[in-house]
Amino acid sequence: MSNKMWGGRFGSGPDAIMEEINASIGFDYRLAAQDIRGSKAHVAMLAAQGIVTAQDAADITRGLDQVKAEIDAGTFTFSRALEDIHMNVESRLAEIVGPSAGRLHTARSRNDQVAVDFKLWVRDTIDELDAQLADLQLALAERARDHAGAVMPGFTHLQSAQPVTFGHHLLAYVEMIGRDRGRLADARTRLNESPLGSAALAGTSFPIDRAATAKALGFDRPTANSLDSVSDRDFVLETLAAAAICAVHLSRFAEEIVLWSTPQFGFAKLSDKFTTGSSIMPQKRNPDAAELVRGKSGRILGDLQGLLVTMKGLPLAYSKDMQEDKEGTFDALTSLSLCIAATAGMVRDLTPDLARMKAAAGAGFSTATDLADWLVRTLKMPFRQAHHVTGSLVKLAEDKTVGLEDLTLADMQAIEPAITDAVFAVLGVQNSVESRTSYGGTAPQNVAAQADTWLKRLASEAGAKAKS
Ligand code: ARG
Repeated sequence: MSNKMWGGRFGSGPDAIMEEINASIGFDYRLAAQDIRGSKAHVAMLAAQGIVTAQDAADITRGLDQVKAEIDAGTFTFSRALEDIHMNVESRLAEIVGPSAGRLHTARSRNDQVAVDFKLWVRDTIDELDAQLADLQLALAERARDHAGAVMPGFTHLQSAQPVTFGHHLLAYVEMIGRDRGRLADARTRLNESPLGSAALAGTSFPIDRAATAKALGFDRPTANSLDSVSDRDFVLETLAAAAICAVHLSRFAEEIVLWSTPQFGFAKLSDKFTTGSSIMPQKRNPDAAELVRGKSGRILGDLQGLLVTMKGLPLAYSKDMQEDKEGTFDALTSLSLCIAATAGMVRDLTPDLARMKAAAGAGFSTATDLADWLVRTLKMPFRQAHHVTGSLVKLAEDKTVGLEDLTLADMQAIEPAITDAVFAVLGVQNSVESRTSYGGTAPQNVAAQADTWLKRLASEAGAKAKS
């Protein structure tokens, strides 16, 4: 039997393999809510423009509501022979309301229909991701405020560099996630034009009102070029790019949690809630959630790459290749959502070992820069010379296998006679972090102030959102 939605000129049905490769219902069922929202806006506009009767529009709207209820209740039967969500919904609508259901598709094509559905889905998902990212920022900023003054080693090249505070380290991720949210918001702004009414590719001869459907669906305006409207997928690409960068941030943090929770670092412990044991090694506590956040970033990056490659050779306007846009996007954004939730969970679960962090903060001559700065400030030495002198002092401490603060004044004066015992004040890690008062630096009062600023900003955002 030929396809009942478009098979007028077809004598027979598709080959089984054709049906299998062609069908998208196995994944685009996830667009059901958006598809019905789009159809309701479309039919209301058709009636307002006198293109269908008010009675037909009322019947179709009622039918669409019933279809939605059946899908929500899990009683809807999805059919692969009907290819995709659009035709599954329309076919069931025809069973419910009869032949007038066929008027819904006036002045519309599946090409603009799928574009509007997918835009709505991506937009809804951006809004959900933004709320989740705000929650992750909150979790990080709360812990940062509590640990604004807790000293830990700061690293470059994963070598001890200079002491920082734990709060400062956590706030670095709050900043990164702030930019991720900004990128998603930018993508949302550019995405927010309605393709509905572009029809197959050329627009339509019916007197439709695209501004009305755009408004009804929460878009800022209709898109300006019908060819572009049905062939544009950069709204997905841009969102996936923002998602990929965000996933990279989460992966970097996950990597740090993995390191911190090793016995060798011992900076933090995750509880039973976010770890697993080994079936053979009873002593083990594995940070699987962190590893999976790190691991899932790989597929999110791959999903972006996949769609870029799918799109790169496509002529205008719609090609069926574009049906391949959905699975990767669902996978990427659903995975990202899970990664954000798991990261927020770990941030709240983590118990830092503050004593161990502080002890480690002094390792590796991490206050050598403070010493060099002291030579510059107090002895008026040029920084390059101070760097050289400090290097000799580090070498001496290394040879004696002691820390810089354990050298005697005589040891130091053997290398630079002008050094006085006032130098010892800058060699402790606490003094070191307290001295970093430059804007954005790690001094505890800076960190506390930054954490408060973020907490206030997040609270006022949440307040504004609750009102809207
Ligand atoms: N299932 C299709 C997709 O996801 C819908 C659009 C089909 N359009 C067409 N002309 N066959 O892209």
